[in-house]
Amino acid sequence: MTLDTALPRPVGSRLPTIVQTALYWMFPRRTLRRWQARYGDVIAASVLPMGDIVFLCDVGDIKELMRADPALFPAGVANAKLGGPFSEHSMLISDGPRHTSSRALLMPAFHGRAVRERVEEITGIVEAHLRTWPVDRPFPLHGRCEQIALDVILRIVMGVDERGLDDVRAAMLRLTQVESLLELFLSAGLLGRLLPFARRRQRVLAESHDRLLAYIQASRNSPGLAARADAAALLMRATDEDGEPLSDRAVEDQLITLLIAGYETTATALAWTFERLVRTPEVLARATRAAAEDDDEYLDAVVKESLRARTVIPDLSRMATADTDFAGHRIRAGVVLAPCLDIVHESPEVFDEPMRFRPERFLSDRGATANWLPFGGGIRRCLGAAFAQTEMRTIIKQLLRCYEFIPTSAPDERMSRRHITTAPGRGAVVTVRARTALPTRG
Ligand code: HEM
Repeated sequence: MTLDTALPRPVGSRLPTIVQTALYWMFPRRTLRRWQARYGDVIAASVLPMGDIVFLCDVGDIKELMRADPALFPAGVANAKLGGPFSEHSMLISDGPRHTSSRALLMPAFHGRAVRERVEEITGIVEAHLRTWPVDRPFPLHGRCEQIALDVILRIVMGVDERGLDDVRAAMLRLTQVESLLELFLSAGLLGRLLPFARRRQRVLAESHDRLLAYIQASRNSPGLAARADAAALLMRATDEDGEPLSDRAVEDQLITLLIAGYETTATALAWTFERLVRTPEVLARATRAAAEDDDEYLDAVVKESLRARTVIPDLSRMATADTDFAGHRIRAGVVLAPCLDIVHESPEVFDEPMRFRPERFLSDRGATANWLPFGGGIRRCLGAAFAQTEMRTIIKQLLRCYEFIPTSAPDERMSRRHITTAPGRGAVVTVRARTALPTRG
């Protein structure tokens, strides 16, 4: 490829890396908006652990990157820079043929139809959790949504039955906990072998791996495996190019990946949905009616609007593998390109009145979905996008049917960064009242 030497390099802050890193992780939105106002839609920065990074804020550039050659802008190698408990087989950090074959293998478990067939089971899981909710006093919803979303993934995506649920849930939670940077530092190398807390942690992790591997071995030998259509069963039945079954370790890696990618994201999106609903009484009232009347079209629009107004994963990562021209700039090999999805979703040039929570935009303007990117795009678009939307609609419907959510005039909850997601700062505090009857129109 011939490069245009006249193109400028992206410009950005000259503050030391440590200061840029602190600003970005502590105040991501404010920092990016300030940089965007000063440097434009293509912003150079230096942020750990990614290193040299170029933030992209223009929707056209972002879509072009999603369509671009994945060998030139792979996602796996860029995702690996973010850390997390992923091992070599994980789809999130693989690229090329390995990534393609993992996606092809798992795709059937996430098709719209496969998910629709499980709606009743999801409803049952929600009902079991709802019995324990506090009523008539404020409480943070996020933790409750995490419990529901975790059980949905374990039961529906991993096919864990009632008997194994507590054991696998405990092991998975320990294995997927993202350590703080300090913990990671103290657990590494010699310190990790000497410090009692680090040794204890390693022992707990090893026990959790053993439990999960024991569960995988037991499932492989169970007579019901052949009839199962969940993602875990697809992995356990799969063979590689030599006709050999995937190793237990490879199955474990992919299951951990699915849990990390699918549970906290969905729980956070649900928490934000209710944070928005209780602050927008007219939408809450309409959504409540839609739940009573099985109006899935409106509830789907609520899900879409929530994912737009509060983008759970605000930016993505791709890494340039060679010097190249992109978005009117020269990009050096090794630089991470980061599309800023939240900036697009909040841009008045892209969405009319972006700060208003208005699900109707997705009913009246079919074109609104063209620039709606909460699940990323291209060959790396979220594998669980259809699953997550159906799951969210089912859970929202059940919650609105069971409880009356009380509107609030409390200020909007702050967006707080939790690793790669952005969650409601106070955990989405709501007050609910038990319903005696479902509302009717008028
Ligand atoms: C509301 C909930 C969710 C949101 C907002 C979300 C968002 C995302 C985003 C932004 C990406 C990166 C896409 C890219 O780089 O272009 C992604 C990737 C992924 N998501 Fe989700 N996700 C959600 C739920 C789920 C669920 C329920 C699952 C599965 C159980 C899942 C599995 C995955 C996987 C496996 C990938 C990696 C795809 C690949 O690298 O090819 N996600 N998700």
